[in-house]
Amino acid sequence: MSSKKHWSWSILLVAASVLTAGCESPLIETPPVQTVQRGFRGLGMVEIYNPDTLAAQAKINEPAAVQPLPAGGPPASSQFKNLKVLGNLNVSEFTGLMLALTAWVSPEQGCNYCHVEGDMASDNIYTKVVSRRMLQMTQEINQNWKTHVAATGVNCYTCHRGQPVPPNIWFTNPGPRTAMGPMGWRNGQNAPEKNVGFTALPYDPLTKFLKNTNDLRVEPRTALPTGDNPKSLVQTEETYALMVYMSKALGVNCTYCHNTQAFMDWTLSPPQRTTAWHGINLTKELNNNFLEPLQPVFPANRLGPLGDAPKVGCATCHQNAYKPFYGALAVKDFPVLATKKH
Ligand code: HEC
Ligand code: HEC
Ligand code: HEC
Ligand code: HEC
Repeated sequence: MSSKKHWSWSILLVAASVLTAGCESPLIETPPVQTVQRGFRGLGMVEIYNPDTLAAQAKINEPAAVQPLPAGGPPASSQFKNLKVLGNLNVSEFTGLMLALTAWVSPEQGCNYCHVEGDMASDNIYTKVVSRRMLQMTQEINQNWKTHVAATGVNCYTCHRGQPVPPNIWFTNPGPRTAMGPMGWRNGQNAPEKNVGFTALPYDPLTKFLKNTNDLRVEPRTALPTGDNPKSLVQTEETYALMVYMSKALGVNCTYCHNTQAFMDWTLSPPQRTTAWHGINLTKELNNNFLEPLQPVFPANRLGPLGDAPKVGCATCHQNAYKPFYGALAVKDFPVLATKKH
């Protein structure tokens, strides 16, 4: 009798630990999860904030404390031999920017991460060639994508965070080919993949929507199947996979951008959805006009499993915050990064 009791207790214990293992600690401990109502009351447009996650996030999202040098000295182009982007700066500003690039991208490696030792003018090192294009990309984002980045803007640190290879880049993902060994076909889904929250959704929505096409809309506009909605279940799953990726990239719920009464309806959606729409187009431009064309410049060990160039996603800039650095201004101290016509 007593051993039977013992057994049932241990089964209960095991069951309880299995059940709670998936829970985040604030559900069972203090401090409690906070919910903030963002839409009209009664609509369930709620954001959930977990204090532990927020504290970890705050650390990642501190902007770099890098100061520019005051303007001074002759034009940099008169002193240096091989300037294609920064020639209009004066020597003091130029030096300040080189110090900033080092702090943002290669603080441990130093100047020579991008320079051939003893010959600063040489382009015979791929990191310098890439950096020059990165300067132009940063100017393009800040000058021509104010619909997305507003006056906040981005600098190298927004993506790089003190590392030569930014933490949240992606490649076209061929994924596991088969379900169970050589039998079965996964169709690019039904395998746990971090980008889509370990769901059964297609695991590479990024190549499709952040590089190739804009074809995201899947909801029918009429109640009955009257032929205006040619989208398949597979296409719907791809859209949802991207939505899961975007929500994770920003650390928000679907209701940050949608009223779940009707996901498709723009008039019911918060303004953030429009910003996100520009963000999708911005990300595509960065991948198609800047990263992918650099493919031949990158060494083989920087390329993806299919030989493609590393690419930018929402998470590359946002790093799980609704705004990178929670909105701290990123370009105001370095006007050369704000426009191509500096
Ligand atoms: C993340 C890459 C990167 C780092 C780190 C970097 N630079 Fe540069 N540097 C560049 C690029 C790109 C150019 C070319 C800019 C242009 O074409 O307008 C350049 C150009 C120069 C030039 C001009 C050379 C010439 O004659 O044309 C000098 C001098 C220079 N850098 C010094 C430095 C110093 C000193 C440091 C370290 C404090 C440094 N750089 C760190 C990317 C970098
Ligand atoms: C929108 C995001 C983004 C911004 C902003 C950005 N980069 Fe990059 N950068 C990338 C990505 C993606 C790569 C490719 C990663 C790789 O090289 O494997 C990259 C690669 C590089 C590399 C090559 C590193 C290596 O070891 O292969 C250098 C150097 C670099 N960036 C410098 C800069 C500089 C300097 C700036 C600011 C003027 C800048 N980046 C701004 C996303 C960004
Ligand atoms: C950061 C903002 C944002 C978040 C978060 C977000 N979405 Fe979206 N969603 C959009 C945008 C923007 C579009 C429209 C894209 C377009 O039309 O090109 C869209 C489109 C959709 C569509 C297609 C609507 C149609 O017209 O057919 C569905 C369905 C959808 N989202 C569901 C979701 C779900 C489910 C979540 C949570 C997992 C989510 N979204 C999270 C911004 C967001
Ligand atoms: C090049 C960097 C970069 C990329 C890539 C990027 N964003 Fe942003 N995003 C920003 C910056 C900077 C802001 C802040 C703008 C501001 O202060 O209003 C922002 C703001 C937003 C906002 C508004 C947040 C709010 O509360 O007002 C949304 C939503 C958003 N981004 C969604 C996305 C989505 C979705 C993607 C990918 C499809 C994306 N972003 C890709 C840099 C980026």
